[in-house]
Amino acid sequence: MGKENKTIGLLYNGGRVDLDLKEPSVGPDVVDLKNFSAQTGLYTFDPSYSSTASCESYITYVDGTAGVLSYRGYPIEQLAQESTYLEVSYLLYHGELPTRDQLDVFRLKVKQNMLLEESVIKLFDTFPENAHPMSMLITSVASLSSIYHHDINVREPEDREAFFFQVLGKVPILAATILNHINKKTVGSYDEKLNYSANILNLFFGGIPNFEVNPVFSKALDVLLILHADHEQNCSTSSVRLAGSSGTNPYAAMAAGIAALWGPLHGGANEAVVRMFNEIKSKDRISHFIEKAKDKNDPFRLMGFGHRVYKNYDPRAAFIRATCHEVLDELGQDNNPMLELALALEEIALHDQYFIDRNLYPNVDFYSGIIYQALGLPKEMFTVMFALARVVGWATHWCEMMANPGLRIGRPRQLYLGPKKRNYIPLDQR
Ligand code: SDX
Repeated sequence: MGKENKTIGLLYNGGRVDLDLKEPSVGPDVVDLKNFSAQTGLYTFDPSYSSTASCESYITYVDGTAGVLSYRGYPIEQLAQESTYLEVSYLLYHGELPTRDQLDVFRLKVKQNMLLEESVIKLFDTFPENAHPMSMLITSVASLSSIYHHDINVREPEDREAFFFQVLGKVPILAATILNHINKKTVGSYDEKLNYSANILNLFFGGIPNFEVNPVFSKALDVLLILHADHEQNCSTSSVRLAGSSGTNPYAAMAAGIAALWGPLHGGANEAVVRMFNEIKSKDRISHFIEKAKDKNDPFRLMGFGHRVYKNYDPRAAFIRATCHEVLDELGQDNNPMLELALALEEIALHDQYFIDRNLYPNVDFYSGIIYQALGLPKEMFTVMFALARVVGWATHWCEMMANPGLRIGRPRQLYLGPKKRNYIPLDQR
């Protein structure tokens, strides 16, 4: 049989249906269920989408069994080692690595958008002192839809591209404004002489007298941004796609993604991991917490461990752990207690049958907070840093989806278990 005839036969009480198999460029075949209900009158049930491909995409590939991650075919290890976040952003968006001139133009377009409208800045005066940075990020990104809505036609490539560069330029400034709301007056300004990640550190801390960007720290931040840039159809990217599929304002769709990322089961895990380390405190208490994590009656979970897709070591976690050592060595903290605790916890968990049986390994969030803390960020900012990196993934997926002429609004069905038909009973008869 030729490739186009690959099918899978399904017998059911109404008969037999032959379903086409769609063949990916890499990875397992996908059963095409687009017309399944029309053909069978049946629905499929997959409540957390563990077995469901929601779209066709050309951007990122994850092989959870092998522990492989690639952006447009380039292995994450090579990109983290050789590339920069801005170059990876170009690659994710355009699909190819840029020439030097193309990268310069891309960098300029991002920089031209690194500014905030007065109405967005004023919003920060309304936030309470102790507002969580992620609540401020959701609100401020959503507020951009109050400025950019008249002239955005989501079906026009030029408008999508304008949005792409706007959001890439504005989110770092929003992150610095959010940090300023917490730290008060450490914010610096954009410096032409600095690269993208060094500028982010300068925006964050440039207001501190005699502050100088440490190149080891800006390189570490750039690696973190590359590693967090995209990850196929994770919870937040899927939220952007589902919201965006209705044709809503792209900033509103981004806000949906940021909202999903905030959850401790997703991007919020990097903050939860450091809170967990602070709760465990010392190595001699690790076993007690490992037992808690294994206890079904205990809500405690080992934050930064486990993954829906990776049933192997998350390739990003290995890189972040190595970067951790580099940053802490630079600070003269090569025996940093939190890193020591993390390494000991990983060692114990990876040899515990419970974790082995369930293929639970450190994920991208396990070590990242140790670096962000070493860079001088409060733990409440850690997920903002995740969003700062992931915004290029969200925007690229949104653009890919909106460019699809066959796009239909996302609208799952359900397995209804509620009451069968019954008649209304007037109030005085109840
Ligand atoms: C991210 O999807 C992505 O790509 C996400 C992400 C990205 O780049 O976008 O990679 C970023 O979100 C990483 C994940 C960050 N979250 C955490 O670190 C939170 C802690 N991890 C877990 O809550 C959990 O592992 C999830 C949420 C990450 C995955 O959950 P699943 O796929 O629904 O797995 P599950 O809950 O069905 O777990 C399977 C088994 C269960 O035990 P049994 O019922 O089979 O006995 O493993 C157990 C779980 O109880 N388990 C854990 C555990 N994670 C899973 N037990 C203890 N501690 C954990 N962390």
